[in-house]
Amino acid sequence: MTDWPYPLWIAHRGGGGAAPENTLAALRTGAAAGFRMVEFDVMLSRDGVPVLMHDETLDRTTNGQGNVNSRDCAELERLDAGSRHGAAFAGERIPTLATALDTLLSLGLAANIEIKPAAGFERETGEVAARLVAARWPGTAVPPLLSSFSQVALAAAREEAPGLPRGLLFDDVPDDWPAQLAAHEAVSLHCNEAALDDATLRALRAAGVPVLCYTVNDGVRAQALIAAGVAGLFTDSLELPSRLQG
Ligand code: G3P
Ligand code: MG
Repeated sequence: MTDWPYPLWIAHRGGGGAAPENTLAALRTGAAAGFRMVEFDVMLSRDGVPVLMHDETLDRTTNGQGNVNSRDCAELERLDAGSRHGAAFAGERIPTLATALDTLLSLGLAANIEIKPAAGFERETGEVAARLVAARWPGTAVPPLLSSFSQVALAAAREEAPGLPRGLLFDDVPDDWPAQLAAHEAVSLHCNEAALDDATLRALRAAGVPVLCYTVNDGVRAQALIAAGVAGLFTDSLELPSRLQG
């Protein structure tokens, strides 16, 4: 893991809990808090444009209703994705992946792009997201790390842009993780810290696999995972890294 190019701390959904998730304000908030890497989720609009969104439906995070993929990108871009988080963010928009990539570059942020396909759109979402990143990201900057719970999406991303790094994403790490990592030629394994047992983590580390854990908001747990050699911690708590540094 000596040549691992990504920082330890990763702001979850862009700006953790400090900004509306998966917005440009979130990316700016993460960067302003000192993070050098962010994670965000990508899904397709009805007309096939990758946008930043976690849920399949609009209701929780925006003033819209219904499925994300029942609206064209232009309709999604008119929605308010900030007010549900707080009045200070009123008018914040759902960004396209293209705009988010430009913002990452202008802020000097590394990224983990989580491909989050709506059911039935796994292949298309992986293809489109990887194609856009490969076309738009300069070869001189550390490339975004692609990940997905969907192995179909990850395989499609690999076919489309084999040069982009991929991470396998699990809730609970399956016993056959070595075979799955090899099958996807993945560079990292991302998993739920709450489901990760010490023996599995030790085995992953012994195999030299960079392990990234979500979502770590507790200082004691973060310190234990760092001591055990994890490569990345996704957090909603933007003050946690500086708190741990004392
Ligand atoms: O990619 C890590 C983490 O974001 C996965 O969970 O549900 O927050 O996207 P979720
Ligand atoms: Mg995510």
